[in-house]
Amino acid sequence: MCGIVGIVSSQKNNVVSGLIEGLRRLEYRGYDSSGVAIISENKLLRRRKAGKLVNLEADLKESPVSGNTGIAHTRWATHGIPNDQNAHPHMTDQVAIVHNGIIENYHLLKDQLLEKGVQFTSETDTEVVLHLVNQHLEQGLSPFESVKKTLSVVRGAFAIAMLFRDYPNLLIAARSGPPLAIGYGKEEMYIGSDAVALSHLTQQVTFLEDGDIAVLENSGVKIYNLEGKRVERKIQQSKVGTSSIDKEGFEHFMLKEIHEQPDVIRRTLSEYFNITHTGLHFRPLPFALENVSRLTIVACGTAFYAGMVAKYWFENIARIPVELDIASEFRYRQPPMPKDGISLFISQSGETADTLAAQAYVKSQGQPSLGIINVANSSLARAVDVTFLTQAGPEIGVASTKAFTTQLCVLAVLALAFAQARKTISQEDLTQYCKDLAQLPLLIEQTLLLKKDIAEIARSLLEVNNVLYIGRGPSYPLALEGALKLKEISYIHAEGFAAGELKHGPIALIEESVPTVAIAPYDSLFEKTVSNIQEILSRRGPIVLLSDEKGHSLFTSQAIKRIILPTTSSLIAPMVYAIPTQLLAYYTAVYKGTDVDQPRNLAKSVTVE
Ligand code: F6R
Repeated sequence: MCGIVGIVSSQKNNVVSGLIEGLRRLEYRGYDSSGVAIISENKLLRRRKAGKLVNLEADLKESPVSGNTGIAHTRWATHGIPNDQNAHPHMTDQVAIVHNGIIENYHLLKDQLLEKGVQFTSETDTEVVLHLVNQHLEQGLSPFESVKKTLSVVRGAFAIAMLFRDYPNLLIAARSGPPLAIGYGKEEMYIGSDAVALSHLTQQVTFLEDGDIAVLENSGVKIYNLEGKRVERKIQQSKVGTSSIDKEGFEHFMLKEIHEQPDVIRRTLSEYFNITHTGLHFRPLPFALENVSRLTIVACGTAFYAGMVAKYWFENIARIPVELDIASEFRYRQPPMPKDGISLFISQSGETADTLAAQAYVKSQGQPSLGIINVANSSLARAVDVTFLTQAGPEIGVASTKAFTTQLCVLAVLALAFAQARKTISQEDLTQYCKDLAQLPLLIEQTLLLKKDIAEIARSLLEVNNVLYIGRGPSYPLALEGALKLKEISYIHAEGFAAGELKHGPIALIEESVPTVAIAPYDSLFEKTVSNIQEILSRRGPIVLLSDEKGHSLFTSQAIKRIILPTTSSLIAPMVYAIPTQLLAYYTAVYKGTDVDQPRNLAKSVTVE
């Protein structure tokens, strides 16, 4: 989603390169245009370009700008197509703005402004904020009063940063929804959408709270709430390193992240699980696991599918009723939250707007919440009662891979902890599950060795327009996740189905040109899936079979393309089987020549609803 960077500096140096480097570090969030505005000799100057950051850099090279106070932006289009006119910053003679989020009442505000004769130059919702602030400045209000007065009539979720021609040592930022970080430098201050955007400038950051307005000068920051009262916010040491994250020899971040999985899984497991003593060591929770009457799991996209896999574990192993929903539905459903229940939110970024709103609802109902989150200090990590961090490290590829499998690991351990507390598992079974988990990094290493075979199969998908994925039990959410991976990076239409549900409709889609990826470890449900695979083969549907030696040995059909995975226990099969679905999507996308790490229309951190 949109990224914001701002620098106010006392030094005579030009802030443009610092702003551009900040934008480069924000590229991973997904964007379709970028721009920069600075104060130069009592004038606001701006450069902005549709497309990738290189376009803006080329423009800046051709017509450079310089100054020591500036704001910059990467835009992910919401209102108006991604072109130069809609790219941020938006500006009048005296004020410039960059914005992340959505102004929900912009129609109304725009109509009022149009009636007053204001001329709009873009299709964006952002421009109404710009013109409102501009009008207040013209009426003689200070920049702070102008912003405060404007925000009192604006509805929606937004993070903004503004620059004022007549105040060369001033930036104003405000947050209501999407995150904003303030950074501290030597006689310089910074604004960033996250700590990553500022990681080349500082490690000292403050995260603004909802409703905060920050007034930055090169000497420091003053933070106010919406009523205009001064508030104090903690300065923290950012956990993001200073170096920019690189591909370390891999062709794409996604491929690098797929290969990191053995390591990050090892690291994640060792946070929660003592391999030597096959015991579980969770930090003490503010409630007793044995008394929890219902677990509600809420997340979006891939994180939701991780939760869906875990539903099987929590129900089967820990015998706890689970309610599961996607955050965008849950937040408006007003579901009753039973007494003694707890809620679990899963998010890589910790900034997903719908997941944050769902957590806020649960909190308003008085239920405690847990978070499985990859970004420490994120909004969700700060909102939940207990955070379980996944140790995946920064995930840059838009398509989630290592975050998914590390989420699964934490969920598996959490399910075992629940089972142990609720006495629904024997010590013998618990020990076996722990041994299985300890073996997981090794099995993933073995699975990664299959990448050549998988790449070969990916070639056969190049000409197809539709792919189905099927699975049963925990392999069903994996089928949904596999289909999501394929469609988001290769743009091939793909759908996941519960294998047993095929004959209730989707089987009508089966024909020679529609391959089905069957996710079928040899487990208690394997024979059931075999029947579904046979039904597809009888209708000339090609199959890509993901199974182990034993599973494959039961099929003789030549119409089957085979990916032979290591034998796994049922608990860890979803993590192992996730790998070939990721690689299949990856190689298909590479052969199709798509933008694997930043696929079209997608954003890494979905900070608008
Ligand atoms: C798909 C993907 C998305 C995210 C979803 C939630 O590859 O990455 O579906 O899983 O947008 O994001 P987080 O986990 O940051 O809340």
